[in-house]
Amino acid sequence: MSHFETDAIRIQRRSDLKEHSSPIFITSSFTFESAEEARAMFADEIQGNIYSRYSNPNSSDLIEKVCRAEGTEDGIATASGMAAMFGSIASLLQQGDHILASRSLFGSTHQLLTRVFPKWGITSTYGDISDCQNWDKLVQPNTKMLFLETPSNPGLEIIDLEWAGKFAAAHNLILVVDNCFATPYLQQPAKWGAHIVTHSATKYIDGQGRVLGGLILGKKDLIKEVQFFTRHTGPSISPFNAWILSKSMETLAVRMDRHCENALKIAQYFEGNPELDAVRYPFLKSHPQHDLALKQMKAGGGIITLTLKGGLARAQRFIDQLQMISITPNLGDSRSIITHPASTTHSKLSPEERAHS
Ligand SMILES: Cc1ncc(COP(=O)(O)O)c(C=O)c1O
Repeated sequence: MSHFETDAIRIQRRSDLKEHSSPIFITSSFTFESAEEARAMFADEIQGNIYSRYSNPNSSDLIEKVCRAEGTEDGIATASGMAAMFGSIASLLQQGDHILASRSLFGSTHQLLTRVFPKWGITSTYGDISDCQNWDKLVQPNTKMLFLETPSNPGLEIIDLEWAGKFAAAHNLILVVDNCFATPYLQQPAKWGAHIVTHSATKYIDGQGRVLGGLILGKKDLIKEVQFFTRHTGPSISPFNAWILSKSMETLAVRMDRHCENALKIAQYFEGNPELDAVRYPFLKSHPQHDLALKQMKAGGGIITLTLKGGLARAQRFIDQLQMISITPNLGDSRSIITHPASTTHSKLSPEERAHS
């Protein structure tokens, strides 16, 4: 029987030395017993580690733990979250394909869709999730992928994953969900029909602001194509970073419980403050998709979005007066942080695009 915390702690490849805690496998390649074994492994007739660009025991531990947590069949660990976003799209689509995406996306993901992929003939259209009854009209004959982020960064928009799973199935689309803000502890998109789940492991999975990492998880047949792409293009995670992230999975559940408990208290504290235009937190009743959040998330997550009256200058004054909170964009850290997305992570978006993010 699978249990979140037990799996996150106990999944591990043990070497012949019978170590209790996993060592770090800092090695670029692995050796073979014979030339014949080398041939058979390269031909995929037998399984094993060949070269750390393809696989490494540390990345395999990490992938297995997060797959077990997400309920996905297989996966790939990458050097950063953006390598995972890029790899999931680039490996599964080709020139002429079209992506339908939710409008509220992380800034760099938005840049991928609007500036990088169009260079290779992969286009995209954004849909408004408050109007998903009309998304049928946005599907084109060449639409191959539905790309979503829920809760979104930074607006904390929630997308109905049950609806998304059914919509993707009805239109024969690959459903990709960036599950970074929720983590597999709070939400498992594959349960609702996502074919691919992506992560910036840099965030809550690390949880202590140390390393970058990403994950692409999903159905075996699709991950096989992703593996081909990553094996030959090389966005592999370093064994050290994979080791850190695999160790961090051991404490993800307790950290998330505390993040969510603290965030809810802070959100409740700020609600109704006359200096604010809005306080957004998925588990506040005032959140426009509160019922949806309750349906698909175990708790509300660790991020609160505040909209201060008075624009950028007022927001900057507020940020600069905080005593202990770090001014940095890396969320999911044990140290509380604050950021002003419009002038930092989302500053490359046009004012119109930012209004929807
Ligand atoms: C929702 C989301 N997706 C992707 C990324 C990119 O991850 P990374 O910084 O690890 O490349 C981030 C980073 O903040 C994010 O918040």
